[in-house]
Amino acid sequence: MWDSLIYSWITIELTCTSVLAYTEGLHGKWMFSEIRAVFSRRYLLQNTAMEVFMANRTSVMFNFPDQATVKKVVYSLPRVGVGTSYGLPQARRISLATPRQLFKSSNMTQRWQRREISNFEYLMFLNTIAGRTYNDLNQYPVFPWVLTNYDSEELDLTLPGNFRDLSKPVGALNPKRAAFYAERYETWEDDQTPPCHYNSHYSTAASTLHWLVRIEPFTTFLLSANNNKFDHPDRTFSAIARSWRNCQRDTSDVKELIPEFYYLPEMFVNSNGYHLGMREDRTMVCDVDLPAWAKKPEDLVRINRMALESEFVSCQLHQWIDLIFGYKQRGPEAVRALNVFHYLTYEGSVKLDSITDPPLREATEAQIQSFGQTPSQLLIEPHPPRSSAMHLCFLPQSPLMFKDQMQQDVIMVLKFPSNSPVTHVAANTLPHLTIPAVVTVTCSRVFAVNRWHNTVAPGYSLEQAHHLPIEMDSLVANNTGSNKRQITDLVDQSIQITTHCFVVTADNRYILVCGFWDKSFRVYSSETGKLTQIVFGHWDVVTCLARSESYIGGDCYIVSGSRDATLLLWYWSGRHHIIGDNPNNTPRAVLTGHDQEVVCVSVCAELGLVISGAKEGPCLVHTITGDLLRALEGPEHYRCPRLISVSSEGHCIIKYERGCFCNFSINGKLLAQMEVNDSTRAILLSSDGHNLVTGGDNGVVEVWQACDFKQLYVYPGCDAGIRAMDLSHDQRTLITGMASGSIVAFNIDFNRWHYEHQNRY
Ligand SMILES: *[C@@H]1O[C@H](CO)[C@@H](O)[C@H](O)[C@H]1NC(C)=O
Ligand SMILES: *[C@@H]1O[C@H](CO)[C@@H](O)[C@H](O)[C@H]1NC(C)=O
Ligand SMILES: *[C@@H]1O[C@H](CO)[C@@H](O)[C@H](O)[C@H]1NC(C)=O
Ligand SMILES: *[C@@H]1O[C@H](CO)[C@@H](O)[C@H](O)[C@H]1NC(C)=O
Ligand SMILES: *[C@@H]1O[C@H](CO)[C@@H](O)[C@H](O)[C@H]1NC(C)=O
Repeated sequence: MWDSLIYSWITIELTCTSVLAYTEGLHGKWMFSEIRAVFSRRYLLQNTAMEVFMANRTSVMFNFPDQATVKKVVYSLPRVGVGTSYGLPQARRISLATPRQLFKSSNMTQRWQRREISNFEYLMFLNTIAGRTYNDLNQYPVFPWVLTNYDSEELDLTLPGNFRDLSKPVGALNPKRAAFYAERYETWEDDQTPPCHYNSHYSTAASTLHWLVRIEPFTTFLLSANNNKFDHPDRTFSAIARSWRNCQRDTSDVKELIPEFYYLPEMFVNSNGYHLGMREDRTMVCDVDLPAWAKKPEDLVRINRMALESEFVSCQLHQWIDLIFGYKQRGPEAVRALNVFHYLTYEGSVKLDSITDPPLREATEAQIQSFGQTPSQLLIEPHPPRSSAMHLCFLPQSPLMFKDQMQQDVIMVLKFPSNSPVTHVAANTLPHLTIPAVVTVTCSRVFAVNRWHNTVAPGYSLEQAHHLPIEMDSLVANNTGSNKRQITDLVDQSIQITTHCFVVTADNRYILVCGFWDKSFRVYSSETGKLTQIVFGHWDVVTCLARSESYIGGDCYIVSGSRDATLLLWYWSGRHHIIGDNPNNTPRAVLTGHDQEVVCVSVCAELGLVISGAKEGPCLVHTITGDLLRALEGPEHYRCPRLISVSSEGHCIIKYERGCFCNFSINGKLLAQMEVNDSTRAILLSSDGHNLVTGGDNGVVEVWQACDFKQLYVYPGCDAGIRAMDLSHDQRTLITGMASGSIVAFNIDFNRWHYEHQNRY
């Protein structure tokens, strides 16, 4: 049978045929084994397209002559469904399901309601199943404006007045203009076309290019679509405040935003120095003018995102979903909500196939392209609201409740019968695991699987604070008999044992260890301590390991760094409990570019990136396919990276020798730095990437705000140094491994440092 798909006969249709030169390879080759998700798509409102997502985080969209062909192709492709992220079976019928069916059968709505996923993630999910894609400018993902204040020096996110009313479409926000649109609809006279409120749309290829004009490939797309000229300077995106004002006043401007407003500061900077022209008020258009409350583009994105995830937006977001994806999208409810767009923007309004006259068909296609396309309708009844955040709030922390700070912060201390420092802590505490546990490994490679009880309810009281989540049964009982859990294979004398020398698999069943003289790294069963696999591939001693935190489309990767200055990326097969997915057990990628021993490494699974540091620098960013993207340049006097932690959005914290911390953006920009006494041995980030936790030789755990390294909290000191840390899955317990061989569990609540909770105590 085929093991790869070669469709040289497929025409890949892009919005502007004249920019095809920009894309590589009109006929491509995509390995079946690399396909992770298949979605049916619309193209020009016809159900004739398909989008395929690959393991390396790229995707490709195909348009076919008709729907029957889409079906045939899907049935020849691997059975991957729409991937593993939405809780749907990996079946071909799922790839062919309608958006409404996908919405119904996925449990993402419940996960959003329960606040297991963010507003951003949920909107991205809705956009994706409703056919919105980065591969078609005409169906680009839609995100709402959420703020109304772009003028004041300070932005108070606790003031409702600073937030947009999400129950209304952009066109209905300003009452005067709303009246104008309502009247236009009521006094509609054209018999040829059904009435509508607006003659423009909230998302079109032109508006997407308008927002993204400063970055490639969009600059090229815009120039090709516009006779190699930029738009008129007075119409070019030049100031956030002005764009917002236009969306309130201009009768033909009802634009919503795109997801980039919530993560891509680069879109506001004219870093390529394009000549965007002079406005009529004689100002040059260059970088986008930011709101007064944002000193730099990163502030704008960070605060905009904070607003998107705020309570005000969480409480109202379902109403905006009703307008864009839901029951107010069409029909009488749409009329009532002032939400009717040109009829050619809706699915089913025109059957291109039935138009036999080529010029007429071409004209209709052109119209669909310029009018914009309304997303597929996902539900025809009101979308449920998000659950209240109240249950997430802690009981008030009144000083009366606790005798002293120590009692409040520290849940428990576990002494171990070994005095070897605990150098690695892995808290895999998800309830559905066979053994939810905290696995600890000491410097002398004694390990323990400490069972975890998911019983600590959110909102603890004094009694609950004494309720121990961890049990150290396994180690004590099993450490005495013949079943002693020590990895006895000797590591190379010259290797410095750090937390980066160990990896515990997500199911707690295997421990990976490096540093062996024979240049291997090894896999041990955590149940028996027995060696299960020896992995060769490096030319010198393996010095550090990392695994992808979550599964990438069901894949899990292990990265090994070595004294030979390279990194190897391996596939971890959860089913077969081995590293490698082919008989020769070769790595999937070789990551080169360092010229020295690699000492620390971290993987950002969501974006498919590997960040690694060499003994005397630099830090490099690679893709999981092995492409070197860039070097992260630390400040002058700090050359030697020691610890790396990366957030799901690709923000990266690097701790250098001599106590320097840096926050780098995904694109390599140094965003913040600080210097502290160099005793730090362990760092970690909260799951949202906002908070950094550090621990060190002084036995003190400290919490910092990651965007500016403002210190938020200092825990009471412990009597031993801290060597390793991890957070329980619910982010409520911090477990530290101590130099004395103990482990300590701390209560932690990141909400407590969130601005929305500041006023509640
Ligand atoms: C991703 O994989 C596809 C095929 O499997 C390949 O064509 C493409 O070049 C790869 N892209 C990157 C960035 O590695
Ligand atoms: C969603 O579905 C997945 C797969 O069926 C399941 O593992 C997960 O627990 C479900 N989540 C919720 C909140 O129901
Ligand atoms: C000791 O380890 C064995 C095998 O891993 C396990 O079956 C047993 O339950 C453990 N003992 C205790 C008291 O946990
Ligand atoms: C660093 O440590 C020294 C001695 O322990 C102390 O005197 C100094 O204040 C510390 N500096 C900072 C910035 O914490
Ligand atoms: C780094 O700085 C950015 C921008 O200020 C911020 O959004 C981010 O949360 C910071 N830290 C991390 C780890 O992401």
